[in-house]
Amino acid sequence: MTQELTTPAVQTEPARPGSGRGWWRDAVIYQVYVRSFADSDGDGVGDLRGVRERLPHLAGLGVDAVWLTPFYVSPQADGGYDVADYRAVDPLFGTLGDADDLVRTAHELGLKVIVDIVPNHTSDRHPWFRAALADRPRGAARERYHFRPGRGADGELPPNDWESVFGGPAWTRTAEPDGTPGDWYLHLFAPEQPDLNWDHPEVREEFVSILRFWLDLGVDGFRVDVAHGMVKAPGMPDIGRGEQARLIAGQALPFFDQDGVHDIHRSWRRLLDSYGGGPDGARVGVAEAWVADAERLALYVRPDELHQAFNFHFLTCPWDAAGMRRVIDESLAATASVGAATTWVLSNHDVVRHATRYAAAGPEQGLARARAAALLMLALPGSAYVYQGEELGLPEVLDLPDEVRQDPAFQRAAGQEGYRDGCRVPIPWSRTGASYGFGPGGSWLPQPETWGGLSVEAQAGVPGSTLELYRAALALRRRLPGLGDGPMAWLPAPEGVLALSRPGFVCTLNTLGTPVDLPVPGRELLASEPMAYGPPRGDGAGAAADGAGTVRLPADSCAWWAV
Ligand code: GLC
Repeated sequence: MTQELTTPAVQTEPARPGSGRGWWRDAVIYQVYVRSFADSDGDGVGDLRGVRERLPHLAGLGVDAVWLTPFYVSPQADGGYDVADYRAVDPLFGTLGDADDLVRTAHELGLKVIVDIVPNHTSDRHPWFRAALADRPRGAARERYHFRPGRGADGELPPNDWESVFGGPAWTRTAEPDGTPGDWYLHLFAPEQPDLNWDHPEVREEFVSILRFWLDLGVDGFRVDVAHGMVKAPGMPDIGRGEQARLIAGQALPFFDQDGVHDIHRSWRRLLDSYGGGPDGARVGVAEAWVADAERLALYVRPDELHQAFNFHFLTCPWDAAGMRRVIDESLAATASVGAATTWVLSNHDVVRHATRYAAAGPEQGLARARAAALLMLALPGSAYVYQGEELGLPEVLDLPDEVRQDPAFQRAAGQEGYRDGCRVPIPWSRTGASYGFGPGGSWLPQPETWGGLSVEAQAGVPGSTLELYRAALALRRRLPGLGDGPMAWLPAPEGVLALSRPGFVCTLNTLGTPVDLPVPGRELLASEPMAYGPPRGDGAGAAADGAGTVRLPADSCAWWAV
């Protein structure tokens, strides 16, 4: 099933000698949104062969692992997060053989592979849901999902007042073959994504079997989609009119972050551990859990649960030094309390890209801040996630015409904020050509004309480019023993500036819109903007970048220093 790949020579930094505490604790994990990364067959949609051919870019970038978004058989009602067959690859993305080849090639290049698992819901085309619909009116096949009679005289009202994350009621009514309305089923997301009933033993057994299937194929772990949603509060109580928006902000909802989800994660941890592998070969689980605070999040990474959880509190933190410091402190304290490593993430396929989120005063500011934020993130203790294209400084595409948008949240306005197609536009690899090297054909979402100039080809080898900044940062991160997992302390710094210290290392971040002068913290290793040294010493020479004199940190900049 494997076809030999001619892998271009890749120069990678030697891996940091493992801490022996687990590879995930300081791994940099690159998120590949498969439909938008690389298209090998010219149909305009990225695929697994495309990913495999581009793996040398990721190895050369210096990341440790790749997370692939869902590529399973799916009607694509939600970009593949509506799975109809968990053990097969959708023809849109290739074959099972392609998945096998991809995993093997990644391993040859020293990259681990994490795949997405979607346990909260299936597709409405999944055989279980087809069987449930056919099992009228209240047959056993419906018990794997949440079917309920409606309220009101004729059952014409949904069973409770829950709203879908994508907008509108979280319930859809079924119809009998003669058109008579029947029971309702629950879907926290689109109607094409019915929620599974995790109290049903067959659901639990099936997912253990699915996880085994991919573990046996050789994957190194799973990103667990909606890991906070599988268990619903007993009795599915109403939330109360008008309450929902406020509660969603704090996530105190009867369908999210229920304590019962932890039993599932514990059983999955036992399964992952049963594959052995030791600290450097362990199979891992990472929770996508949008929960109220760092303490709630830490529950997902207790020693007998998953290995990592996405730190969305860091992602959602505005560009503000005090706020960032608070989030960093809270995150570190919470994960330390359970002995886990922290994760950091700035962008993913569900949120506005950070180069645009930070662009209060325009795109130039957004890019400067995005570059600075990346250096901050990569200097923090723990593991970091990089979303495809952020290493190119890509902004959100804000002007997609309505007719090309595919995010189901867009069709159901008033749901999840921000339509998610703008961060999913296929990434540019070359200056010119159809879809800027994304593939030999077009691209499923139109790319801005300026993107050739942001392509890998345009930035590779160009000093100061965002791509080279990421490469340099990742190479240093591997080389410097003080980075990755380990201790961190804050140093005194003026308001608006963060200065953090790691063994042999200092990172300074200026979040202000104006330059700030500081005593030179050490020998400059890397900076998101050119640093200016001064003032002149007595002999008339400028202070050197070696620890003497003062340095002027430019507005919205970050620098790394050896001390
Ligand atoms: C997660 C995914 C998102 C998807 C949702 C429903 O939040 O990241 O893309 O729409 O789950 O599966």
